Amino acid sequence: MPHEPLSALQSRLVAQGAAASHLPRLAGLRELCERSPHCLGLALVGSFAQGRGDRISDLDLAAFVADDRETEFLTQADAVLGGPEVLNVYGQLRPGQVAFRKYVYLDFSSCEFHAFHHRTPFRLRRPFVPVWDPNDFLARLVVDEAPPGHETFEPYPHGDDGLVWELVDCIKWLQRGRTPLAKSYLARLGQALDTVGGASLDAAVVPECRPARPEDFPALQRMLELYQHDISDMYDQDLDERGEYGYDLHRHLEGRTSFAHVAIVGGHYAGLALVGPAFVTQTEGWWMEQFFVLRKYRRGHVGAALARHVFESHPGAWEVGQMPSNLAAQAFWRKVIARISQGHYTESRLTEGRWKGVVQRFRLEPSD
Ligand SMILES: CC(C)(COP(=O)(O)OP(=O)(O)OC[C@H]1O[C@@H](n2cnc3c(N)ncnc32)[C@H](O)[C@@H]1OP(=O)(O)O)[C@@H](O)C(=O)NCCC(=O)NCCS
Repeated sequence: MPHEPLSALQSRLVAQGAAASHLPRLAGLRELCERSPHCLGLALVGSFAQGRGDRISDLDLAAFVADDRETEFLTQADAVLGGPEVLNVYGQLRPGQVAFRKYVYLDFSSCEFHAFHHRTPFRLRRPFVPVWDPNDFLARLVVDEAPPGHETFEPYPHGDDGLVWELVDCIKWLQRGRTPLAKSYLARLGQALDTVGGASLDAAVVPECRPARPEDFPALQRMLELYQHDISDMYDQDLDERGEYGYDLHRHLEGRTSFAHVAIVGGHYAGLALVGPAFVTQTEGWWMEQFFVLRKYRRGHVGAALARHVFESHPGAWEVGQMPSNLAAQAFWRKVIARISQGHYTESRLTEGRWKGVVQRFRLEPSD
């Protein structure tokens, strides 16, 4: 099915009463596809593709991107979809799979943009509208299945970050008279908040996160021993003659270019973070030198709280790296950084140079 001229695509939206702000978004994305050598196809899906759209329907788009450029393509699309008229945006990057962002705009329009790695086994259900498909790529993805109904949406799929989007969805359903759907979704959302959020809230760990004081340094030194042993199956190190790994904390104690922070739970040390000057992909800004949460306190959002405290204590450009085999740390940092940067981060895999591994980069402006 060849793609239509842009004017015909826009007419489809106009005929369904779409928000006027969707028309330049569609034009900008089509223009991006035309100049991108990596975009194999872009499909309009969802209610506008079904001809059932209205003035508050979201522009639901799936792009398929070659050469591992899905994150780059998402960033380029953000130049079209982002901007001052955005009320809320969140997203995720899963390199090699998908990068997506969901935008809610001030005029109550919204857009869901997915950039899939072209080898992701994506099932494209009819009806869809090809926005860009010069080589008939989209036809290969088509399956004869009914599109998913709203009733099947699992609530709370992206945690607190996705809540605005979910609540906007409920407002739309209420506005369209689908009150039972909105109410049942809200009830299921409440249950999810009780079980997911409630479980960890009941476990009640609200860490105190603060810069390390001189008197914290003996404890920091010992926690670093625990940390280094913890990752010794991934990072090859030996004990010295005193039975220690050893870590030089002079720079952090001095506190001019490098810094230490601690997390404390119920009066006990629960984690540490060391920060130094960026050196891996840039020389401006900060590098997360070491980061550790004691096992007892893991999966209770101590790490997330400590990371947020550290980032906010050192605004500016950031780079955070993980060893290639430390998949848990990669999952943790992607979540934490996606939240604090609202999805505006890049990730690369370095195979050469002074440091090798996965690196996320983002910038945090100082809070007022
Ligand atoms: C990585 C580490 C710091 C995470 O600390 P933590 O306190 O357990 O993390 P949190 O509970 O704050 O988790 C924040 C998010 O990351 C996710 N996450 C944490 N650990 C994860 C894991 N092992 N696998 C997948 N996701 C994980 C959590 O599910 C949570 O997501 P949610 O908010 O949607 O529930 C901790 O496991 C650790 O110290 N590991 C050993 C040292 C290390 O690898 N340090 C990092 C070096 S780069």
